[in-house]
Amino acid sequence: MNDKVVIVTGAGSGIGRATALRLAAEGGRLLCADAKGDAAQETAEMIAKAGGVAAALLVDVTEEGSCGRMIETALGRFGRITTLVNSAGVSAAGRDATPAPKEWERVVGVNLSGTYLASRAALPHLAASGNGSVTNIASIFGLVGGSLSPAYAASKGGVVNLTRSMALTWAPSVRVNCVCPGVIETPMTAPFLTDPSWHQPLLERHPLGHFGKPEDIAAAILYLASDEAAFVTGAALPVDGGYTAA
Ligand SMILES: NC(=O)c1ccc[n+]([C@@H]2O[C@H](COP(=O)([O-])OP(=O)(O)OC[C@H]3O[C@@H](n4cnc5c(N)ncnc54)[C@H](O)[C@@H]3O)[C@@H](O)[C@H]2O)c1
Repeated sequence: MNDKVVIVTGAGSGIGRATALRLAAEGGRLLCADAKGDAAQETAEMIAKAGGVAAALLVDVTEEGSCGRMIETALGRFGRITTLVNSAGVSAAGRDATPAPKEWERVVGVNLSGTYLASRAALPHLAASGNGSVTNIASIFGLVGGSLSPAYAASKGGVVNLTRSMALTWAPSVRVNCVCPGVIETPMTAPFLTDPSWHQPLLERHPLGHFGKPEDIAAAILYLASDEAAFVTGAALPVDGGYTAA
C-alpha cells in the first residue's frame, strides 16, 4: 500500500479500526473518519505510535456536506486519494419484523445511503488518481436473509448491488468491490454475542466453529484494495466462516 492514500469511514471501531491499522502497517497513508471524532483520533494515534502516517476527522456519512469535507481534508493533507473503505455502519436496534419508518431510515440511511454518499464524493478523485478502488462492507445478510431486521438485510443487499453497479459505471478507472462478513466480534455484535439466545444459534451457522475477528476482514480488504486485486471488480467476497456456503 506504499503508494496509497486511504480513507476509512467507521475507522473509530471494530472492522474499520482494524482495517485502518492494517492498511497503514502496509504503508498506506490514512484518513480515519468516524462519527465519533475521539474514536477516529484514537485510531490515528495508534497508527502514528506504530510508525505510520494518519490523520483523523469527525465525519457523518449520512451528510453530503460532511462527505465533501472528508474528501477536501484528505486532498489537503495528502494531495490525492487512491482508496476508499466504507466501514461506517449501524446494526438494527433489535429483533423486529416490522421496524418503524424512523428505524428503517436510520439503518438504511447510514449503511446504504452513507456508503453511496461517501463513494459519490470520492469517486472522481479516485478516478483521477489512475489506480483507485472502493471497498464496501456489506454482510452475509446482503447475500441471504436475516431474521434480525429486514432494514439491516435490505441495507446490506443494497450495498452488494450498489457495489456491482458502481463497478460497472466506474470501470475501467476505479475498481469497486465489497466484503460480506459473517459474525465478527466487534462492539456492534457484543450485545448479541453476550446474549445466550443469540450466541449458540449464530455460532452453529458458522461451519468453521467460531466467530470472526476484525483482523480477518481487514486482511480481505487489504487484498481487494491492493494491486494484487488488479483484475477484481464487482466482487462480493464472503469472509464468513462458511455461513453462506450452507
Ligand atoms: N461485526 C459484524 O459482525 C459485522 C458483520 C457484517 C457486516 N458488518 C459491517 O461492518 C461495518 C463495521 O461494523 P463493526 O462491527 O466494525 O461496527 P462498530 O460499531 O464497531 O463500528 C462502526 C463504526 O461506524 C461509525 N459510524 C456509525 N454511523 C456513522 C456515520 N453516520 N458516519 C460515520 N461513522 C459512523 C461508528 O461510530 C463506529 O465507530 C458495518 O457496516 C457493519 O454493518 C459487521
